Amino acid sequence: MATNRTFTMLKPDSLEKGNTGAILEKICAAGFKIVAMKQTQLTIRDAQLFYAIHKERPFFGELVEYMTRGPIVAAVLEKENAVEDFRTLIGATNPEEAAEGTIRKMFADSISENAVHGSDSDENAAIESAFHFSGREIF
Ligand code: CMP
Repeated sequence: MATNRTFTMLKPDSLEKGNTGAILEKICAAGFKIVAMKQTQLTIRDAQLFYAIHKERPFFGELVEYMTRGPIVAAVLEKENAVEDFRTLIGATNPEEAAEGTIRKMFADSISENAVHGSDSDENAAIESAFHFSGREIF
């Protein structure tokens, strides 16, 4: 996986609120190219594996329940400096701390239901993309 790619999920709250199109529009307007995308629903096992790094955290059960309660949109995005620029675009994990104009400021309700995921490193972007997509689904 090239280092100019990142992985994102539009989380269940975004789809429930009908924000899929508006969020994708902001992502594209910020210069990201969608090189893979699908709407899917995580199983409990999928969510436990995807968020395994958080399994000792007190919010782990709540996180798994939230992420499996409805469909998500998973995507691989390409842009120069993708990981860092995408994290800037989505804003802080807690929407109350997110900068004006960021996706979480505009579309998220709380730290637990924060609208979107963005990989935190090139290494995790590659791992997370491979979790959701086979090689022939990424263009
Ligand atoms: P994200 O950073 O994409 O991945 C981990 C997720 O855990 C995070 O988004 C939130 O959805 C959730 N999360 C992080 N911190 C908390 C918290 N303090 N309480 C509840 N959920 C959290």
